[in-house]
Amino acid sequence: MAHVLGIDVSTTATKAVLVDGAGAVRGIGIAEYGLTVPHPLWSEQDPALWWDGAIAAIRSVLDQTGVPAADIAAIGLTGQMHGAVLLDVAGAVLRPAILWNDQRTGAECDAIRAALGPERLVEITGNDALTGFTAPKLVWVRDHEPDVWRRVAHVLLPKDYVRLRLTGEYAVDKADGAGTLLFDLAARDWSPEVLAALGIDPAWMPITREGPEVTGAVTAAAAAATGLRAGTPIVAGGGDQAANAVGVGAVGPGSVALSLGTSGVVFATTDRPLYEPRGRVHAFCHAVPGRWHMMSVMLSAAGSLRWFRDALAPGEPFGGLVEQAGDVPAGSDGLWFLPYLSGERSPHPDPLARGAFVGLTLRHDRRHLTRAVLEGVAFGLRDGLDLMTAAGMPSPQVIRASGGGTASPLWRQILADVLEAEIATVSTSEGAAYGAAVLAAVGAGWFASVADATDALVVATPVAAPGPDAAAYAAAHALYRDLYPALAPLFPRM
Ligand code: XUL
Repeated sequence: MAHVLGIDVSTTATKAVLVDGAGAVRGIGIAEYGLTVPHPLWSEQDPALWWDGAIAAIRSVLDQTGVPAADIAAIGLTGQMHGAVLLDVAGAVLRPAILWNDQRTGAECDAIRAALGPERLVEITGNDALTGFTAPKLVWVRDHEPDVWRRVAHVLLPKDYVRLRLTGEYAVDKADGAGTLLFDLAARDWSPEVLAALGIDPAWMPITREGPEVTGAVTAAAAAATGLRAGTPIVAGGGDQAANAVGVGAVGPGSVALSLGTSGVVFATTDRPLYEPRGRVHAFCHAVPGRWHMMSVMLSAAGSLRWFRDALAPGEPFGGLVEQAGDVPAGSDGLWFLPYLSGERSPHPDPLARGAFVGLTLRHDRRHLTRAVLEGVAFGLRDGLDLMTAAGMPSPQVIRASGGGTASPLWRQILADVLEAEIATVSTSEGAAYGAAVLAAVGAGWFASVADATDALVVATPVAAPGPDAAAYAAAHALYRDLYPALAPLFPRM
């Protein structure tokens, strides 16, 4: 059996990536779907979309490649984190899942802080209560939909609904479990204290497993639906951020990954459950056994550049736009950009935060504005990294970068200068789905550990190192850091 399959149940599509024994991607099946916004700030999805998507994606990749299902040694699951999937005693869906990007639960976050005490909450879970996390969604259903609440018998994360349909088992990996805000971070399992304080029955919570551990096998019914072989083992896998880190090889203590897509994520692997005392960066379990991670999530990273291009240079290729910004010196001649175009998550968990250009003069032209966007995103990422190093993580020497934004040599150089670390790109693609396939390869016994697997399968190539501009950026970042506190009191009035 010379293949493994990684399945990513994302917000926009379910993707099935078939990987061979040498780590090469043999084929990708994708089934797209939408989400519903029943009220402003709400975000929901019917779990049936994920299962139908999984069936279509798996069938598509098997058809395309002609690889027989009997040749798949194991399957790994990953997916959008923090969703709330509520099922009755028979495993039937009780209401649409409430997703990670749903913002309805501001009051419930306050109620959770009050129920546990804000310090105790961070001490146990490693995190502050954020609207995105699962726990406030459960509290919302408890308080707003008592008829649903009375019938709840199982709580799952999105990808684990697909696991249920594939294997009949209720299980979750430790990384996704920690993203619920119901975990004891150090114990790597559900916190009886948090569950009790929020009135959540521990019997509702699925069993938790380490990323490469097998949680069950494809049932005969699921085999008939998907074309998979009945009995194919399924490993726990990981939430999408942890699985993505596996996919780029950020698995050893001190290793750091940067994902520069629409959002920007700095992900740092730790050998202990480190957390930021005010919960301004997230602290979760890694999909790697015995490892944890801290993570900062900037909501508009490459998304800021896309907005800028679409607003001020519509139709212009990113390559040319960014190249012109190379004519402008580091610091953009005294211009700053705040990337809070969709509010912010880390290090300022503020849905009301707004973007800004600050320091404009007659001297500035489009090249300066472009460069200020690239620099502002890098400064915001540095804010997250600084909170992690202050919490005890060693400063990284190398950062493994992935995502569309890393295609730009200028942006890579700015990132190396601002983050004061070498930037390396990796040989793998397909992020989280690839990471899930790697975890499956470990579960199948191909490798003794996740680190052995990524050492064999992921090659990192340095593409930028900190240069002479680092000092100018340090000064510009010091001013950038003062801009959010200065503007924050005005955001609610806007
Ligand atoms: C992670 C996060 C997103 C979602 C959606 O904390 O919110 O990565 O998992 O992909």
